[in-house]
Amino acid sequence: MTKKKVLVTGGAGFIGGNFVQYMVHKYPDYEIYNLDLLTYAGDLTKHREIEKNANYHLIQADIADHETILPLFEREQFDFVVHFAAESHVDRSITDPGVFVRTNVLGTQVLLDAAKHVGIEKFVHISTDEVYGELDFNPATFFTEQTPLQPNSPYSASKASSDLLVRSYHETYNLPVNITRCSNNYGPYHFPEKLIPLTISRVLNNEKVPVYGDGKNIRDWLHVYDHCAAIALVLHDGVNGEVYNIGGHNERTNLEVVQTIIKALGKSEELIEFVEDRLGHDKRYAIDPAKLEQLGWEPKYRFESGIEQTIQWYLENKNWWENIISGEYQKYFEQQYKLQR
Ligand code: NAD
Ligand code: TYD
Repeated sequence: MTKKKVLVTGGAGFIGGNFVQYMVHKYPDYEIYNLDLLTYAGDLTKHREIEKNANYHLIQADIADHETILPLFEREQFDFVVHFAAESHVDRSITDPGVFVRTNVLGTQVLLDAAKHVGIEKFVHISTDEVYGELDFNPATFFTEQTPLQPNSPYSASKASSDLLVRSYHETYNLPVNITRCSNNYGPYHFPEKLIPLTISRVLNNEKVPVYGDGKNIRDWLHVYDHCAAIALVLHDGVNGEVYNIGGHNERTNLEVVQTIIKALGKSEELIEFVEDRLGHDKRYAIDPAKLEQLGWEPKYRFESGIEQTIQWYLENKNWWENIISGEYQKYFEQQYKLQR
């Protein structure tokens, strides 16, 4: 196997963190560089076990800082870039859109420029199905790679903008890129501001779980391990310039997700509290992953087994999430929700 230098941006976050661990173990001959600014969403304790591996390297830096990124690319001559770093939470984008534009749009452009400057083998841009907007509740409709981009939140608009920049660097400069658009991920190290870890952590603490609106909005859940395998496949075998949708065939209403977790933990549905709906709340996301399946990928996790594994992980790793929810996060939670304890 040829030795490759792989730059993973956002490798201290949820999906990037799982991907870094996947790559360090699966490709011991590759050098994995985790570049992360360590914002509120970045956490390095998850990498304690791989910190000493000779093929793991950490770089604390801001992707939007051209003065740091360009010399770094010149020095390290990466072969692959897998770009996860982003502001990723829709609710935060509704309160403060500016930082989403800086990180997700400008940050992506700075990376693209550096990748073009040194000439890399592949740039994989991790995007989201949210760029397609929303679907109605007709179960026969899905997002395909041809679905027009119609983002509805400042978060998804910033991701769609970055997708268009990535596309333009392929069309204009022939930069070898792929864009992946995945559905909602879940699994180990999911930051507790997102629905599934928020529900698990609050139910375990016998606290109310805020469900937006009537709870009937639908998301298509993808286990993060299935996502990591899909990205590795695109990195090695993706056709330059192509977009690949990644989805787990696991549509559930938010209420079903919350009820499943409450039942698995043996608690009462009285913990559910219906709260004011999210502004511009997309009704339904559902992915048609046929194009990626043709490339040779299929999800291994059904939602039932995946959620069981995830709940077990949160039970066994209380220290990790208790640390997070006891800090700055507490202030965010109090501002975002006005729930009874
Ligand atoms: P996350 O919020 O858990 O992690 C983001 C990481 O990026 C953090 O470690 C943070 O410190 C880092 N970061 C933020 N700003 C940075 C900057 N300026 N420079 C360098 N690093 C910076 O996000 P996630 O859930 O792991 O999502 C990863 C990617 O996948 C994002 O691009 C997101 O849009 C996309 N995505 C996520 C989901 C999901 O369900 N979580 C679904 C679809 C797409
Ligand atoms: P989230 O985990 O924020 O992911 P996304 O907005 O990217 O889909 O939310 C998943 C779904 O859960 C979404 O429809 C909003 C809903 N939700 C709640 O009902 N309550 C909550 O407290 C949160 C965070 C989300």
